[in-house]
Amino acid sequence: MIRKRILTGITTTGTPHLGNYVGAIRPAITASHNADVEAFFFLADLHALIKCHEPERIHQSTKEIAATWLALGLDTDKAVFYRQSDVPEISELCWILTCQSAKGLLNRAHAYKAAVEQNISDGEDPDYAVTMGLFSYPVLMAADILMFNATHVPVGKDQIQHLEMARDIAQRFNHHFGETFVLPETVVEEHGDVLPGLDGRKMSKSYNNTIPLFLDEKPLQKHINKIMTNLQEPGEPKNPDDSAVFQIWRAFATEQQTAEMRQKFAEGIAWGQAKKDLFNLINAEIYEARARYNALMAAPEKIEAALQAGAAKARAHAVPLLAKIRRAVGLYPLF
Ligand code: TRP
Repeated sequence: MIRKRILTGITTTGTPHLGNYVGAIRPAITASHNADVEAFFFLADLHALIKCHEPERIHQSTKEIAATWLALGLDTDKAVFYRQSDVPEISELCWILTCQSAKGLLNRAHAYKAAVEQNISDGEDPDYAVTMGLFSYPVLMAADILMFNATHVPVGKDQIQHLEMARDIAQRFNHHFGETFVLPETVVEEHGDVLPGLDGRKMSKSYNNTIPLFLDEKPLQKHINKIMTNLQEPGEPKNPDDSAVFQIWRAFATEQQTAEMRQKFAEGIAWGQAKKDLFNLINAEIYEARARYNALMAAPEKIEAALQAGAAKARAHAVPLLAKIRRAVGLYPLF
């Protein structure tokens, strides 16, 4: 039996929304139920420090994201679910890998390059507000992945380059110090970035167009009512393929429900009705998880206990591998 070890991280800077759920959380939890898969999921709070300098927000987001995954039924007996900063071996590995990573490689990272280009076009110093954290981001991500010898890493398209860099860094290390790391494969979530937000663009915190996942029923209904539509009247046939309401419907519906809604669009369903139907569909899927989420948010000690247990499991993998890595680079006891 070939076991896959999947690993992915979630940066703790925001509140989980429907786009995160459909694109990342739901497929990850589903994959973790597969008997042939070992799953490592973690809260990338060290990554959060790169782009967020608001302690309260990072802290709150960590709690919300952890509660979300637990409420959605992540089986923490099977999956290893932890907070990055609880595993100090990752930070140590990050330094060791930093010493193997070519600066020229990191110069090419999209996120860093975009910041520099923005500065130049703003007439600023190219390095304005560029921290070493931003510059070294791909090395920390490589450490996250290589620390656990992950074989498959599910990510959004924007992360493909980081995965290539992780492979590059691993290869270079293996070549110089001997076979140590597994080269991780990138798994791009195909439907990962298709969920539209309120304004029809990709649902994303940076566009301020999200629908938070665990809103109570009333605010959820309100948000759904705000999804942009055109001015077509009830009775006028509508085109499902350019409708955000339909695209979101499809992400929660069975194939048959999708076909039925397509038919209703052709028959001219009123936008108000389509949105009511959408609310009911989404609410039915998340209703029970929402109750668990609210209970967890009210009992953060339970979330913390789950994360501590996860960190212990993660470290059981990280400590022996780091010992091997330290030896490989020459850091070990004198006798
Ligand atoms: N950088 C990733 C993102 O922004 C999050 C992340 C951090 C990650 N470390 C990782 C994803 C390791 C996969 C593997 O989405």
